Amino acid sequence: MKKLTATLLLLSSTQVLANEVNVYSAREEQLIKPLLDAFSKDTGITVNLITGDDDPLLERLKREGANSPADALITADAGRLHRAVEAGTLQAIQSTQLNQAIPAHLRDPANQWFGLTYRARALFYNPAKVQANELSTYEDLADPKWQGRVCVRSSSSIYNQSLLASMIAAKGAPQAEQWAQGLVANLARAPNGGDRDQIKAVSSGQCDVAIANTYYYAQMLYGGDAAQKAAASKVNVFFPNQRDRGTHINVSGAGVTKSAKNKENAVKLLEYMVLDDAQRWYSNTNGEYPVKRGIAASPELQSWGNFKSDALNLSVLGKNNAQAVKIMDKVGWQ
Ligand SMILES: [Fe+2]
Repeated sequence: MKKLTATLLLLSSTQVLANEVNVYSAREEQLIKPLLDAFSKDTGITVNLITGDDDPLLERLKREGANSPADALITADAGRLHRAVEAGTLQAIQSTQLNQAIPAHLRDPANQWFGLTYRARALFYNPAKVQANELSTYEDLADPKWQGRVCVRSSSSIYNQSLLASMIAAKGAPQAEQWAQGLVANLARAPNGGDRDQIKAVSSGQCDVAIANTYYYAQMLYGGDAAQKAAASKVNVFFPNQRDRGTHINVSGAGVTKSAKNKENAVKLLEYMVLDDAQRWYSNTNGEYPVKRGIAASPELQSWGNFKSDALNLSVLGKNNAQAVKIMDKVGWQ
């Protein structure tokens, strides 16, 4: 009996020593650290944070395999989260809290990843050149009336791959291919730069309409950089496909790694990130929309108006990714 007590004491002190969670995060440190600090303060769990760019971080996780110290992966885009699943780096988590907080289409049906915030891939136009009522759908951007007027970044961007994957889901591959071909034919210039650069190109008059993620526009407008604010202020946002399936959205999300040595703490961290306050803080800080029902977006995002978003289960974007990439190559989307 005495011996058992000693063993239990030893076990519990070992647990105290190991009360930590190792996070690989593709979010910039200042965009997530305060939330992780709050988690540590509230739970007593130490968070060891490693940040990096999305793709290299996933590569690292794959390379490390079962030996990876990572317990949780935080990254963006369902297409990329799906790659993490396909690479066998994540595990299924059963959590009532996560399932209740996050709408079903914003998480993996097999519970290997969970959306924490969402963003729209919207249209951005120059109101000096385009009337809002001339815009309608993604499909319309393939119409010859937009010839030489559209800007979009390269097909190597997972954001564009996921957009085309959603088009495949909505219209079928042959029509999605026709659309991609028409879009490429309408480009004002060869794809160049990131999403912010497309918004800047609209502002400077290089193109009339661009496709970009909403948080870039939010960060340009409200992020404190005067030049970016000036550029974005000349550009309006438009949410396409409001009369049919809704605007294409995607998530930033997280999963618990297969290699997790601190699985319970990793689950606790994910659950913490869907608490009301955490949702508000995390989405506002990143210029994104909270996934949790009943939690309002920031006043800045609300000022753009409400919009209908595509209710497609985002795991489909991952499943259609390879086909999307093939179509992009075929139509010459650089
Ligand atoms: Fe991004």
